[in-house]
Amino acid sequence: GREAKLQLVQRHVRAFPDFPKKGIVFRDICPILKDAAALKAVIDLFEEHVRNNHQHVDLIVGLDARGFLFGPLLAQRLGIGFVLVRKKGKLPGATVSVSYDLEYGKAEAEIQEDAVAPGQKVLLIDDLLATGGTLYAASELMRKQQAEVLGCMVVIELKELNGTDKLKPHRVFSLIQY
Ligand code: PRP
Ligand code: ADE
Repeated sequence: GREAKLQLVQRHVRAFPDFPKKGIVFRDICPILKDAAALKAVIDLFEEHVRNNHQHVDLIVGLDARGFLFGPLLAQRLGIGFVLVRKKGKLPGATVSVSYDLEYGKAEAEIQEDAVAPGQKVLLIDDLLATGGTLYAASELMRKQQAEVLGCMVVIELKELNGTDKLKPHRVFSLIQY
């Protein structure tokens, strides 16, 4: 059931204090990827959420780099496509970009100009929500391209950083909260 899957996922997240900087507790999702059942549980739970909450989704939009680990698997399950939001300078052709802050630095996010069409309904996916800077940047890219953000999905939400406030009015679905 759902509870067993959530527990399986939870057991496959490790905490590393003071990485990549002093004071940050890094939540490592690598053990999830290494365990077939845990990874399947993540995708099962995401799929269930989408099927229960969204009638029609055109695309899954995943964030560089760890959003790429889960997004394409979910998109395949749903029978829809996947779009990459990358760190600046990685995508060829015409692009649109925005800069943003994150828990331990600063970065710039970019999509290809033709990645989403006006009016398309998208779900944003990443491994983890901290300050919300990264997902907010992706939502800004979607706004610029006039795509409709149906919501955000993450494996892990760091509650104390209030990322969900930054993302309002978009809804955030998370599997694990710290
Ligand atoms: C991490 C994480 C999220 C983001 C969350 O990525 O994978 O994308 O930070 O932080 P925020 O909510 O404060 O924006 P990072 O930028 O470290 O890049 P990576 O996925 O390439 O490791
Ligand atoms: N990205 C931003 N903050 C993070 C954290 N504490 N652990 C893992 N990834 C992160």
